[in-house]
Amino acid sequence: MQNFDYMTPTRLIFGEGVIAKLTEVLKPLGNKVLLTYGGGSIKKMGLYDKVMELLKDFEVVELSGIQPNPKYDPSVLDGVRLCKENQVDVILAVGGGSVLDCSKAIAAGAKYDGDPWDLITYKVPTTAALPIVDIMTLAATGSEYDAGGVISRTETNDKVGYVSPYLFPVASFLDPTYTFSVSKKQTAAGCADAMNHTMEQYFAADTTLLNDGICEANLRSLMENTKAILKNPEDYRARAEFMLDCTYGCNGILALGNSGSGWPCHGMEHALSAYYDITHGEGLAIITPRWMKHILNDKTVDRFVKYGVNVFGIDKNQDKYEIANQAIEATYKFFESIGIPMNLQAVGIDESRIDEMAHHVAENEGLENAYAPLKEEDIAAIFRASL
Ligand code: NZQ
Ligand code: ZN
Repeated sequence: MQNFDYMTPTRLIFGEGVIAKLTEVLKPLGNKVLLTYGGGSIKKMGLYDKVMELLKDFEVVELSGIQPNPKYDPSVLDGVRLCKENQVDVILAVGGGSVLDCSKAIAAGAKYDGDPWDLITYKVPTTAALPIVDIMTLAATGSEYDAGGVISRTETNDKVGYVSPYLFPVASFLDPTYTFSVSKKQTAAGCADAMNHTMEQYFAADTTLLNDGICEANLRSLMENTKAILKNPEDYRARAEFMLDCTYGCNGILALGNSGSGWPCHGMEHALSAYYDITHGEGLAIITPRWMKHILNDKTVDRFVKYGVNVFGIDKNQDKYEIANQAIEATYKFFESIGIPMNLQAVGIDESRIDEMAHHVAENEGLENAYAPLKEEDIAAIFRASL
């Protein structure tokens, strides 16, 4: 078991109606708030008005229009400018992972005199950030409980993960009723994203029994609750459990003491989203079973057996490879059953840039150190198998 040094300083405020505590949380952080949000879903569901009413004694500057796969230019740059011009004290992000990720980059950029891209690419270390509070309206990324964000730069086809301890939100408000209006497509994509976060930590060279058990339970819970939500989007119990499952995704708690995972599917998916601006969770769902097939061998088969038996209830009294292949098939079928288009062509990606994307991933994502090491030709083969 590996040594670790772990802390998540974020306060989670969970449940229906918890927004009532918003001003109590914001007040000690300052009076000038940058309110960030996306393309308008928070207005449609009435949350914008509720937040503005609660913020009536604060000075509020707004940054709207943050897109899925949030863009450096204009969103991060505009946000940094607004913070500097208005001497903002605290950022309040209201929306999904994209709004929060963008806000994290803005928070650090606001405390830096140079080009914020220097921070995102680690050319310059992050040494400070504005405090961030968020109200999540979409359960998926786990950004509400982690220190990372993912920022896209269209002109260079970059989608870069940016992590710094300064980026942990101070507090995250998680009210499952705000997710009632999330579409079936985004709910399924969120499920695939959170499942993949869990799997990326489960498929590792060295894991603990405790972590394996938590990951297996998280995967089962994500699948069961997604099915319930797709039947009834306003099933509070299912939305609530699903939301917490997603929160556990990315802050490392599922892998304390583990070693040798490497997040290979995320590394590959970032290229798909960067080149084609597709929905992150859909890209992951498409790649994951193909990646599994590609890495199944004598070194990995026992992990697939454990996964198949404990997550999907596959009969353990069979040949190891039989179980492993059934587990991979069950993964594919589950994603298909929740409505995810299960090949790249269905999300607008063809053969033409596969080699270029594989090269980009091999150069930038370090997947030769993954649980099952991936070279450029492996990445290209996984992409081709996903077509
Ligand atoms: O823009 P609005 O109008 O708000 O609409 C959004 C957006 O179109 C909509 N939406 C959000 N809440 C809603 C809603 N629609 C109806 N009702 C609601 N309550 O959903 C759409 C997608 O939103 P987005 O924020 O993009 O989705 P998600 O939360 O899945 O975030 C995806 C981004 O997070 C990154 C991904 O790469 C992607 O860029 N990730 C961040 C991670 C992190 N910080 O730890 C880890 C992940 O692996 C992931 O990479
Ligand atoms: Zn993800």
